[in-house]
Amino acid sequence: MLLLHLSDVDEDRWSARLAAKLGGYPIVRRGDQFDPRDVRYIFVWKPLENAFDGLTNLKAVLSLGAGVDALLRHPRLPEGVPIVRFVDEELTQCMTDYVIANVTMHQRCHSRYVADQAARHWTQFYPAPAWDISVGIMGLGELGRDAAEKLRALGFAVRGWSRKARDIEGVETFAGPDSFDAFLAGTDILVNLLPLTPETEGILNRKTFGKLRRDNLNGGPTIINAARGGHQNEDDIVTALTDGTLGAASLDVFQTEPLPEASPLWTAPNCYITPHIAAISNPDSGAAYFARVLLEHEQGKPLPNVIDVDRGY
Ligand code: NAP
Ligand code: GLV
Repeated sequence: MLLLHLSDVDEDRWSARLAAKLGGYPIVRRGDQFDPRDVRYIFVWKPLENAFDGLTNLKAVLSLGAGVDALLRHPRLPEGVPIVRFVDEELTQCMTDYVIANVTMHQRCHSRYVADQAARHWTQFYPAPAWDISVGIMGLGELGRDAAEKLRALGFAVRGWSRKARDIEGVETFAGPDSFDAFLAGTDILVNLLPLTPETEGILNRKTFGKLRRDNLNGGPTIINAARGGHQNEDDIVTALTDGTLGAASLDVFQTEPLPEASPLWTAPNCYITPHIAAISNPDSGAAYFARVLLEHEQGKPLPNVIDVDRGY
């Protein structure tokens, strides 16, 4: 039996899509009558505190999100039960779309022309070509790798930073904390696609911003955060945008979501805010993925995309 436990998303829609893909496999939802001992899989997003209570025969936890940081902080997450996260072509494409849109916007000096327009100034400044701009991607996993490859194909100079050494054609790669400063020193636009873990929490801070390459990208070094709000020190971002340490920031995620009305980020100079929409889990491709994972596992196949709980992603 599969139990759905989805908060803050359209559970009706997911339920219908999953039912269509699962054939006759039984699905239940919170509020239905069922014996928790019959639940073999639970599909979760923002699970409540009692979500896992009584589920003594769980074979896997299926995470609607690609990021599992919040799930791993669940106070009653069952120990030893594998967690499968969402990995999906459409989600990856949407994230790459977001990254490319924002990188290109900053490379083409969007902030400068917005300011010129507001002041009715006609100044023919010509932005540098893509190959003169270095995009540094933190995280070279499912999302970071795709963004790196596609930015490279667009002509950008691309570098990437990960925990273990990664090899991506045409991309200069760096691994581990010892190479972080060298990675930053050649980066004009810093893109964050890391998972949120104790090691990466708060990584977008004043110290990091101060190590980015200056005087190459017109307007100053720029950050793009599409991973998690916990990666960013929001006071540092406001200060850095105000004193010129950063030229611009594109932020899709925030420490508190929705971003509180009182946040100074709303009006910080050259701060481009989107409401955590970079890449959403689509119920059509998502139901197909999770139904396949479940049915194949029931036939004895191994679970894909299982996260390493100790590593945190
Ligand atoms: P992933 O496949 O697990 O890749 C994670 C990458 O980060 C890997 O390259 C990993 O290094 C690297 N990494 C982890 N810890 C590190 C550390 N301490 N130092 C350096 N590199 C480190 O994750 P993904 O699928 O690409 O997703 C990344 C994140 O995007 C998710 O965790 C989620 O928070 C976020 N996300 C946001 C949205 C949105 O709409 N804004 C949508 C989906 C996902 P190794 O390669 O060495 O393992
Ligand atoms: C969205 O942020 C996700 O983790 O899938």
